[in-house]
Amino acid sequence: MQKWIYSNKIIFCILLLFFFLFKNLNAAVIKEAAGKNGMVVSANALATEVGLEILKKGGNSIDAAVAVGFALAVTYPYAGNIGGGGFMVIHLKNGKNTTIDFREKAPLKATKNMFLDKNGNFNPKLSQEGTTSAGVPGTVAGLIYTLKKYGTMKLAEVIQPAINLAENGFLLDYATAESFKNTLHDFKRYPSSYKIFSNNGIPYRTGEIFKQEDLAKTLELIKDEGRDGFYKGKTAQLLIKQIQSLGGYITQKDLDEYEPVERKPVYGTYRGYKIVSMPPPSSGGIALVEMLNVLENFHFTQDEWGSSKYFHELAETMKFAFADRTKYLGDPDFYPVPEKGLLSKQYAESIYKKIGSKAIPAKEIKAGNPLKFQESMETTHYDVYDKDGNAVSVTTTINSAYGSKIVVDGAGFLLNNEMDDFSSKPGAPNQFGLLGSEANSIQPQKRMLSSMTPTIVLKNDKPFLIIGSPGGSTIITVVLQVIMNCIDFHMNIKEAIEAPRIHNQWLPDEIYAEPFGLSSDVRDNLIKMGYKFGKDRTLGLAEGIKIDQSDGIIFGSSDPRGNGLAKGF
Ligand code: DON
Repeated sequence: MQKWIYSNKIIFCILLLFFFLFKNLNAAVIKEAAGKNGMVVSANALATEVGLEILKKGGNSIDAAVAVGFALAVTYPYAGNIGGGGFMVIHLKNGKNTTIDFREKAPLKATKNMFLDKNGNFNPKLSQEGTTSAGVPGTVAGLIYTLKKYGTMKLAEVIQPAINLAENGFLLDYATAESFKNTLHDFKRYPSSYKIFSNNGIPYRTGEIFKQEDLAKTLELIKDEGRDGFYKGKTAQLLIKQIQSLGGYITQKDLDEYEPVERKPVYGTYRGYKIVSMPPPSSGGIALVEMLNVLENFHFTQDEWGSSKYFHELAETMKFAFADRTKYLGDPDFYPVPEKGLLSKQYAESIYKKIGSKAIPAKEIKAGNPLKFQESMETTHYDVYDKDGNAVSVTTTINSAYGSKIVVDGAGFLLNNEMDDFSSKPGAPNQFGLLGSEANSIQPQKRMLSSMTPTIVLKNDKPFLIIGSPGGSTIITVVLQVIMNCIDFHMNIKEAIEAPRIHNQWLPDEIYAEPFGLSSDVRDNLIKMGYKFGKDRTLGLAEGIKIDQSDGIIFGSSDPRGNGLAKGF
């Protein structure tokens, strides 16, 4: 009898082991999720679970998106935030499309030449590091505005999971622990950051519990007082103290005056599908639609994907769009962006006609003249779709990995270094190699130009694709290629996101491929056409949802280049 109990115990243990092994393998291998009632995709598994719970409780996509946003600030400090900003594109079940701009703003004390030294040279240290690099944060105001207007739940309900994760802590996965460790030398420069991201000076290890008590208190204040819990009172005082102790510009007046803006989306069409994307101050929507308009003139057959001809046509199109971005795009509240011209199909056709069989050297490409056509018409992305058909596509950022790397002492959140997205001096590239002009020069309270491209693609006016990515300048071209993979090459969402991509942003005059992305003969052909290759690198971290409206199945996929999770029910 005893022997029988003993051997059964062993079998039970083996089964348990298999269960956990299989469960983990599952999580690691299966990246496409399916569901009928809702789907959440984000760059962090814990945040995805938070969003899914909200949907299961009966919340809509907006409730879940706001909950995911706050959760990411806790579980994914690499890019999730309350000290940064972002954009949200929304398609409501009643057919309305809208966008929320909660991008950071330049402080009132900002000046056009604030990042130039006495010789007039751009000093990227000032725009990328320290408190001078921080824009006035927009995330908390943006999330609360959106929840009030389009959500169904109370702030207390959607923010609570984030508070719990901060207060009780969570188990650090390998990627997060490694990422903290690799950034520790930067955090060390700021005692307030070192305190949070190291375990008394020792790097956190995989499997350890990571608690953020200060952040939990800040989130509690937001829960109790709404936006005032961040922009006024204790949190605001701590933020300003931190800024002032290191010589930055943000004041209480900046915080008082910060408001998110609801903007009309950028619209386009591509082979019968409708594109709904982010308008300026993001360049994403306009550049995406401009490129799709050019590419619509080509006809791609299924077996052309991955050929040198295909990548050539993509790369040339990208170059023209980035040349226009450099000249014409900036905050529309400060600069008259020629949106209609840039989005016009005729303007795109004029670009298409310039594309031949060879690479045009970047110096021969200039921004076009869209005005002629004017009359005609470290970042993270997450998506939510609910059973009623509400779709939300959000990209949010603190710019570099961990933003400025400065934690606001006592408040537990990281400050962004978004000021580097301005064009500090014509011809001086920012950290993404992007150039700009007067359209994106620094002015008090202006929003810095972004590349974030949260997008919803509609088919017969119903959501077909919800997509976005981080990746600085590469965001726009990543989103472009995932959309084309789905529409032109009929890939499922997993294939469309996994497929290798390329990037070309006009200047520097280089094409970028991913490691193992191109075969040597395709690479050789492109070199023969006149392309110079930059160093191979991973491009973007796309998160996407694709909906088959005919039978109501929702598919989700989180980019295997990262550690996110797509989950439906
Ligand atoms: O708004 C932008 O375009 C940039 N601040 C995005 C930064 C980003 O994607 C960093 N992630 N890799």
